[in-house]
Amino acid sequence: MRYDELVREKYARDAKSGNPVHILAIESSCDETAAAIVKDGKQVVSSVVASQIATHQQFGGVVPEVASRAHVEVITRVVDQALQEAKMKLHDLQAIAVTYAPGLIGALFVGVTAAKTLAQVAGLPLIGVHHLAGHMYASAISEGVEPPFLALIVSGGHTELVQVEKDGTMHRLGKTRDDAAGEAFDKIARALELGYPGGPAIQKAALHGDPSAMEFPRAKLPEGSLDFSFSGLKSSVMLYMDRRKKSGDPIAVENIAASFQSAVVEALVEKAELALRETSMHTLVLAGGVAANALLRRRIQEVCEPLGVQVAIPPLWLCTDNAAMIGAAAYPRYLRGKLADLSLTALANLSLEAW
Ligand code: KG4
Ligand code: ZN
Repeated sequence: MRYDELVREKYARDAKSGNPVHILAIESSCDETAAAIVKDGKQVVSSVVASQIATHQQFGGVVPEVASRAHVEVITRVVDQALQEAKMKLHDLQAIAVTYAPGLIGALFVGVTAAKTLAQVAGLPLIGVHHLAGHMYASAISEGVEPPFLALIVSGGHTELVQVEKDGTMHRLGKTRDDAAGEAFDKIARALELGYPGGPAIQKAALHGDPSAMEFPRAKLPEGSLDFSFSGLKSSVMLYMDRRKKSGDPIAVENIAASFQSAVVEALVEKAELALRETSMHTLVLAGGVAANALLRRRIQEVCEPLGVQVAIPPLWLCTDNAAMIGAAAYPRYLRGKLADLSLTALANLSLEAW
């Protein structure tokens, strides 16, 4: 029987059975190779993340070719381990989900190829997942959040405000016009020689610094815009450091880290508040790697409380890249029968609306 027919039959059979839905999810869009098994979109049965951070540290950032190769080396083991930890075999599953966009194209290909191969071999439905939807749906696991909600997604590659409607439809309300928030953290950390990844390093250095020591400029965006911009801030920090170096003055790393972190966080919080007022949403989901930032977590809570907005912030392990969040995002798609076929291919760019 052909794959398509096989899968259609299995899907109909599983849907009729009323049994729990177990999805094996795979994530390889950047520098983590991850696999997880998620039950009914919110219960993590197993989750394995193989991080390449140590590999990329020596280069001060992610090197795409190195990332692809590292994914190839570990993907089989990571998937096997996720199945083993769940004490499950492929035939116990209802579907395979995979991040197919956006991200590093070579890295994405590794996950997509693995997922398609497994789906074909085991006759399992395949679901293509948008990486940012994964970040948002991490909150379904940790807080049981369901749409509608507003999401602030802040990662190494993205800074977006997204409105998710009850039926799962997504509208992007704002985005960064230049650097992503995490990217800005990483670049400034590199300039301060704090290492990679930059976010945690800046947060640590900022603990001993004064956030009002330097007044770095705010982005100049049109009144009411929900977009972000971090390149001006980044340039002014760099310029400040250059001037100090040239004049032979010491560089107060802790103060720069604290002032920079505070400027980024205030910009994020300000736009989130504006979007909440405009949309009258009652739930805010904070997602993506930068959501691990302690100051951001605290400031978002402070702003949302008086507005009566419930804040959902996943725990740290769900904020950084993982496959459990991909399984959670795949679940509503599975229920709606939005399955991919074997022509699914990796895409470096894809808007959430087009997903
Ligand atoms: O979501 P993620 O794991 O990967 C992408 O999809 O980009 O996000 C990684 C980003 C990196 O830029 C990293 O520096 C940042 O998240 N990050 C942080 C913190 N932890 C990770 N940024 C600020 N504060 C943190 N504590
Ligand atoms: Zn991510």
